[in-house]
Amino acid sequence: MVRRHLLRLSLLASGAFFGCSRSGDPIAPHDTGAPHSFTESEAALLQTMWPLPSLPASPTNAYADDPWAIQLGQYLFFDTGLSASGDIACSSCHDPSLGWSDGLKLGEGTATGDRHTMSLFNVGYNRWSYWDGRCDTLWCQAISPIEDEREMGNNRVRLAHQLTHDPLLNQAYRETFGPLPDVSSWPDNARPMPNEEDHEDHQAWLSLTPDEQDAANRVLANIGKSLAAYERTIISRDSPFDQFAEAMLVDGEPDNDVLSNSARRGLSLFIGKAQCHFCHAGAAFTNQEFANIGLADRPWLLPADRGRIDGIFDLRDNPFRGDGRYSDDPITGAIKIANLTTTGEQEGQFKVPSLRSIALSPPYMHGGHFDTLDEAVRHYGEVVEMPALGHREDMLQTLELSDSEIADIVAFLESLTGAELPDSITTQPESPVYTPR
Ligand code: HEC
Ligand code: HEC
Repeated sequence: MVRRHLLRLSLLASGAFFGCSRSGDPIAPHDTGAPHSFTESEAALLQTMWPLPSLPASPTNAYADDPWAIQLGQYLFFDTGLSASGDIACSSCHDPSLGWSDGLKLGEGTATGDRHTMSLFNVGYNRWSYWDGRCDTLWCQAISPIEDEREMGNNRVRLAHQLTHDPLLNQAYRETFGPLPDVSSWPDNARPMPNEEDHEDHQAWLSLTPDEQDAANRVLANIGKSLAAYERTIISRDSPFDQFAEAMLVDGEPDNDVLSNSARRGLSLFIGKAQCHFCHAGAAFTNQEFANIGLADRPWLLPADRGRIDGIFDLRDNPFRGDGRYSDDPITGAIKIANLTTTGEQEGQFKVPSLRSIALSPPYMHGGHFDTLDEAVRHYGEVVEMPALGHREDMLQTLELSDSEIADIVAFLESLTGAELPDSITTQPESPVYTPR
């Protein structure tokens, strides 16, 4: 990798890119036969978009790269037993064959949710989880659907019973995290429900001692950590775009077969006139921030989804935060959220999602606003909608993209679809117990 970087730098210094015009103007802007090529400044920007780096460390999750945890998490991800009804798994909504989403506008579990199911491609790179960033780690995220009544409707005490009584899950848990608590005197169902204090599960929770509550929380946190460990293996890479960037930046010669002329023009627009790369930045295609892109209401959405600002309030109340008791590195976790403040600007902001393999998971946006990529890109071309809440980022001005420019950007987005993942990642293993593969 070091050698590659050196090579890339020396190529950049010599301006030895295929098709680079010395004047800095792009050559062949239209389909005239000669492949669209790139200016030196475009090539320099391309260097920030490739290669996809290796996964960042996850210090708050000591099991993030542990093969035992990955296998248990992968087994549970596809296990409908994780839901109260016994018929919903994480994979029911995050279906590998639907780009790890569900093809629906809004998530459908035991009931219909408020937001569109996010794809899980490259979640291991995320700084924040959820459309509103209400979790600061991936394992914090994995915990909440298990108990969410519209998703899986389970509870942490029932989960501890399940892990205790299923021989294989019991073995897998112990081999990964150590002994399970003694649940023999615990009620069947219990969890804290501060907003519904009369609920029998909340009352049952209050009947447990603080140590028992702590033990149940730790089991739930560990299961979150195993799910997160597995999710880190869901990576979109080696897309046609990556092959193109590699050929251009490493070999100094673009491979004319991997990106169509239209997709190349789309790339120029993405990092040029259309300014998409300001937010969908770098090799992960996200700056890891939040923005209000001025989407209007839709009849199927809650009238006022405040997005990021509520995400910050929710995070403050979450006991499974990266700086909390169940974190494996609370100091690092605390640094991450130390400067988190709320401002009016955050009204109606949502997470800037990665665009890798984006073509596989329509519809688009936090509320499934657009059925196709064409419609999504057209939104940026026209920005005529009245924002449902807050105000649109100032930088998003009407771009007046022509139909052919929109088609070019769509072609570029389609070139971000990564290599197909093997069955060893996309299916449930036979057993939750680690077996070397
Ligand atoms: C009922 C459908 C449904 C089920 C079941 C479900 N999810 Fe989700 N998932 C969603 C929706 C909807 C969102 C976005 C919600 C939001 O932002 O408010 C989401 C968001 C996520 C995210 C955030 C991704 C990102 O980029 O921030 C992750 C990770 C995730 N889910 C993992 C899981 C795991 C692990 C499970 C099983 C324990 C699971 N989900 C179960 C619908 C579901
Ligand atoms: C100001 C920051 C910003 C800029 C500039 C920007 N985006 Fe986005 N993009 C976002 C945010 C934020 C979302 C999620 C919005 C939501 O759901 O409310 C998003 C969502 C998307 C989605 C849907 C992703 C999904 O998972 O549903 C696509 C596709 C997309 N953007 C493409 C583009 C393209 C193409 C451009 C350039 C024309 C662009 N974006 C420019 C911030 C930006």
